[in-house]
Amino acid sequence: DFQWTEAAAVDEVPADDVVGMQVGGREIALYNVDGRIYATDNVCTHGHARLCEGFLEGHEIECPLHQGKFDVRNGKPTCAPVTEAIRSYPVRIDAGRVFLSLE
Ligand code: FES
Repeated sequence: DFQWTEAAAVDEVPADDVVGMQVGGREIALYNVDGRIYATDNVCTHGHARLCEGFLEGHEIECPLHQGKFDVRNGKPTCAPVTEAIRSYPVRIDAGRVFLSLE
């Protein structure tokens, strides 16, 4: 069973955009793609850059530092120079709140 940690209100994640926040002591990026919420680690696997400062286009987040890209649905790298996946987290929405499974 998943253990769910409350992260934010759904309203705090603007449409087709990304926000960064601390959840359970981790730096998390939350994405809103067509009204659906996704969550990954916020720090890029390539260097020390925060994805919440990057550019979200469809399901891809572009890192602000070297323009590597990840698929926010599963954390997989989709564009060089990133080669290592970023961790993604299961998301549950309940009563307008976003919950993440962080284990
Ligand atoms: Fe993200 Fe280099 S730090 S692509």
